[in-house]
Amino acid sequence: MTGSLEEARRLLGHARRVVFLTGAGISAESGVPTFRGPGGLWNSRRAEELATPDAFRRDPRLVWEWYAWRRGVVASCAPNAGHLSLARFLHARRGEAILVTQNVDGLHRVAAIQEAGEGDPAPALPLELHGSLFRDRCSECGVVHEPAGPVDTRAEATLPRCGVCGSLLRPDVVWFGEPLDPGVFGAAHRAASGADVCVVVGTSGLVHPAASLPMATRAARGSVIEINPEETPLTRRVAHALRGPAAELLPRLLEPDRTA
Ligand code: OAD
Ligand code: ZN
Repeated sequence: MTGSLEEARRLLGHARRVVFLTGAGISAESGVPTFRGPGGLWNSRRAEELATPDAFRRDPRLVWEWYAWRRGVVASCAPNAGHLSLARFLHARRGEAILVTQNVDGLHRVAAIQEAGEGDPAPALPLELHGSLFRDRCSECGVVHEPAGPVDTRAEATLPRCGVCGSLLRPDVVWFGEPLDPGVFGAAHRAASGADVCVVVGTSGLVHPAASLPMATRAARGSVIEINPEETPLTRRVAHALRGPAAELLPRLLEPDRTA
């Protein structure tokens, strides 16, 4: 740990508004593969080439096969201590703290609903910059659908189709070369620019525009805290770099009384 947990806690304690930005690293301890680094999804060229609009036009069955596999992997994973302590913090500081995630695995959402308790009408849900693995979207008219069930990837004819226009559905995620939803990114940017503290967890900080959000906090004279076992391009620009896994450090940062 190169920064002090104590000082980071103090910063958070004084902050009126806090924004969190998370990446694949927060889900690593839940068993979800990250994109880069050892065991990363993008280490296989083939996977990277499947996450594009061109690949879907060329061979939608193959792209769906890969996403059906990822849905299966993530469906067997559960939120870890990092997701859960973050969800409790967001719930306790509703209106003051916002979570922006690059993850499509839905684990923050599961944690939010779990920690808000049964029947809470408004769990503190994340802004999902890159979409969700567990939603379908029409590749033509853009309508978003709840998946009807497991995708049958045996042939193009068995792939799911839009109930409105009949075109092929695709996973509701952002692919290489596609823009982010301007409404979602706009809300994330406003949250980052208005925050006194931005906590960046488990992201390599290489993919823009998500990686620019901590800089928006800094530009508005806020502080940035990073949680990551490795150095990233962001490290030298942050106030506190806490080195270690998110599932261990987030509870210690956000809930010192529970973890003392
Ligand atoms: P990456 O796979 O690029 O980076 C994962 C980061 O998590 C690295 O910096 C690791 O050091 C860190 N890490 C690993 N284990 C950790 C742990 N236990 N606790 C905390 N951190 C840990 O993932 P992202 O930065 O999320 O975009 O990738 C950004 C975007 O690139 C993804 O959303 C995806 C990808 O292309 C799209 O698909 C649009
Ligand atoms: Zn449609």
